Amino acid sequence: MKNILPKKGLSMEEILRKLKEYAADDLDPYSGRLFTIAFEPGVEEMREVAFEAIKMFAFKNMLDFTEFPSMIRMEKDIIDYSTSLMHGDEQVAGTFTFGGTESVFLAVKAARDCFILKKGSITIPEIVMPVTGHPCYDKAAEYMGLRVKRVRVNEKTFAADPDAINEAITEDTAMIVGSAPNWPFGTIDPIKDLASIAIDKGVWLHVDACVGGFVLPFMKKLGEKIPDFDFAIDGVSSISMDPHKYAYAPIGASVVLFRKKFYKMFSQFSNLKWPGYPIVNPAVLSSRSEALLAAAWATMHFLGEEGYLELARKIISAKNKIVEGFKEAGYSAMGEPSVIAAFTSEINLFKLSDEMAKNGWILMPQKGIASMNIPPSLHLTINPIHEKLADFMISDLKKCTEVVKELPQTEAENLLEIFSVALGMLSPGEMDIATLAKLFAQAEKVLEVQGERILQALGLEKGFPKEMGSIFQLLASIPPEMAELLASYVVIEIFKKGI
Ligand SMILES: Cc1ncc(COP(=O)(O)O)c(C=O)c1O
Repeated sequence: MKNILPKKGLSMEEILRKLKEYAADDLDPYSGRLFTIAFEPGVEEMREVAFEAIKMFAFKNMLDFTEFPSMIRMEKDIIDYSTSLMHGDEQVAGTFTFGGTESVFLAVKAARDCFILKKGSITIPEIVMPVTGHPCYDKAAEYMGLRVKRVRVNEKTFAADPDAINEAITEDTAMIVGSAPNWPFGTIDPIKDLASIAIDKGVWLHVDACVGGFVLPFMKKLGEKIPDFDFAIDGVSSISMDPHKYAYAPIGASVVLFRKKFYKMFSQFSNLKWPGYPIVNPAVLSSRSEALLAAAWATMHFLGEEGYLELARKIISAKNKIVEGFKEAGYSAMGEPSVIAAFTSEINLFKLSDEMAKNGWILMPQKGIASMNIPPSLHLTINPIHEKLADFMISDLKKCTEVVKELPQTEAENLLEIFSVALGMLSPGEMDIATLAKLFAQAEKVLEVQGERILQALGLEKGFPKEMGSIFQLLASIPPEMAELLASYVVIEIFKKGI
């Protein structure tokens, strides 16, 4: 392997020039053209404040909070603010983490350990959740030895179906989950109903407010119909909410709240068994830069309550324009949009997202799940900056819709359809270990010999193309276990080769 490190260090000028070169093909997260994973308020001065905070704290390590008490002060402020937004009392204890996934990991660990101690024997604990739950629960389950059961949602509202959750709970269920809102459709699960079930069955209820925690309370204040979803409801055990989403902090900021201090005990890790320093880790990682905590603190204090209220007003206005525009263009909303909206239509939404990308708009096509009557859809994460751009986007949407209607079905697409039906029949609902082992063994052999050809066939030999519709469509067409394997392989290859 070639050593890429220069013998003599580069100057600041050279470094910045090189970094700019590396970033030349990046999309602009501040542009308002992304309706995917950027959360852009369009407040430039706020960004500058966050950058200053990052500079001040980048090399301070949260591993040892005895050395840097600023960390405890800033974290307490953020946790207290989050708790008050979620109507928590003095008993609530929380942790600042680097992302929603990490917050969910801590909630899952706490729920699992509580469950195992209560039960007094080791089984494989289960998480029961609507199929719309974020994959970070599957990830936590994979890392920590749980099993996830995804159940149907209401076919009209695309929110959780409490009966389906209730029916799926067994004596091994450690946790149930509801989202406020879920990522695919932006619908808010009926947390009150889920909480009654949690109390009745004695299970942990985690509310995933990673998306909505910092924005739904403000939308409610402005008169939007937002159902209750927080600690005001008995039976809610923990809540995750991400400042790096709708509190507009730089990426790497989330919060997990536990109804009781004792619940938080189960989420932490402490170790005094080695000859080194005593370890108490409130989060998953050990060494963490204080920069992101400081940046989140700075962002929140810069915007203040009035700032957040104003940004929520812009989101509502953007959402109304977007929902109306999509309706006019012949699409229908899936359930009740919140800060996320999803639309469905008879036309090929993978092609539509490519057409929109050609016009500079980034929307996310979603495959749906035919067996659960969930059609393919187009996902939009709505940001305050979209208020001033929504009309332009909708005007392009109308044009692109007409273009896609006229596009003929290609031979490759016909084959894909046949291929996917055949593969769908071959794939068992859930693969057992023996089948998975066989699949992996075969995949290793095939990918070693044919990997490069597969990359070429997918147009991925030089990295990710600008238009990804056909790749998403392929992944949507084959059984998920195979799609996961293929996607994982492609990502390893592209990271290894570089672009
Ligand atoms: C509902 C929900 N929960 C959890 C997560 C995971 O958050 P993160 O990407 O910050 O790890 C996401 C991410 O989009 C999400 O939408």
